[in-house]
Amino acid sequence: MKDLISIADLNEQEVQRILGRAAELKAMHVRGEVHRPLEGKTLGMFFEKPSLRTRVTFEVGMAHLGGHAILLTPEHIAIGVRETVTDVGKNLERWVDLIVARTYSHQLVKDLAAAASIPVINGLTDLLHPCQILADLFTLVEHFTDISGVKVAYLGDGNNVANSWINGAVKTGIDLTIAAPEGYDPDPNVLREARAYGEPKGRRVRVLRDPYEAVEGADVIYTDVWASMGQESEREARIKIFRPYQVNRDLLAKARPGALVMHCLPAHRGEEITDDVLDGPNSVVFQEAENRLHVQKAVMEILAAAPRKVSSQ
Ligand code: CP
Ligand code: NVA
Repeated sequence: MKDLISIADLNEQEVQRILGRAAELKAMHVRGEVHRPLEGKTLGMFFEKPSLRTRVTFEVGMAHLGGHAILLTPEHIAIGVRETVTDVGKNLERWVDLIVARTYSHQLVKDLAAAASIPVINGLTDLLHPCQILADLFTLVEHFTDISGVKVAYLGDGNNVANSWINGAVKTGIDLTIAAPEGYDPDPNVLREARAYGEPKGRRVRVLRDPYEAVEGADVIYTDVWASMGQESEREARIKIFRPYQVNRDLLAKARPGALVMHCLPAHRGEEITDDVLDGPNSVVFQEAENRLHVQKAVMEILAAAPRKVSSQ
């Protein structure tokens, strides 16, 4: 494990190692134990899109581990405009020890990882959001202990979060059903590759249209915004299309009694989820947000200890 670009790139042992280490780091944090393996190390944080959780948890996580973080925005380093992504990577590797990048283009994060000999972490692209789903898997471990066979119903847009859920489900044995309107399915390549990996192991990912069918017997209902960052102009049109997929009391009643409600946040209250459900007793959304911190600390600790990738110069 030299980067974290996609959960699909990790083997099952690596996924379990991250989840296990997150639990240890969380317990240490709760006990107030100081653990500073990244003393003197620096994380470069490149964000092309807004962020609350990802930005804060990476920066706080780095501080907990004894290192520090610097924020790099497009106004400062105009990747692809002022200089190439390769040149940015080859400069950064000389000064910082890890990079987290949140970009529109997924290829940009892949190119940065290819160029830099230091680990690159995907902090969300238009295609994937692996850190979020690792935190969500850890949250499910806290609730279910053994998550293989847990039934997750994802409702709404087949977006970056849905795509990473597909990757995370087949690596952990979660039984995933996605309900999305026609034209908003998850990425076909992600789905095909995940099914090719999961099906021989008897792991299924279903994609269907009917939200009620998807939540039948579900242990977990998951949703995300209907218009992701960069799709703001489509928001009004999407609200009409996605309306039947709203997670509300009526839909929750069709899931298993006591089913967990998850959302990566930020939420558009009253759109993809109602206030009463988001703030209700089934919701674990702020536990998910907290767990971003512990999981990403595990990821950074593991990656910082990995042998460096070979640099071309
Ligand atoms: N869930 C998540 O990634 O939140 P931010 O966009 O605030 O980082
Ligand atoms: N799908 C959302 C996730 C935000 C964390 C987006 O990309 O905006």
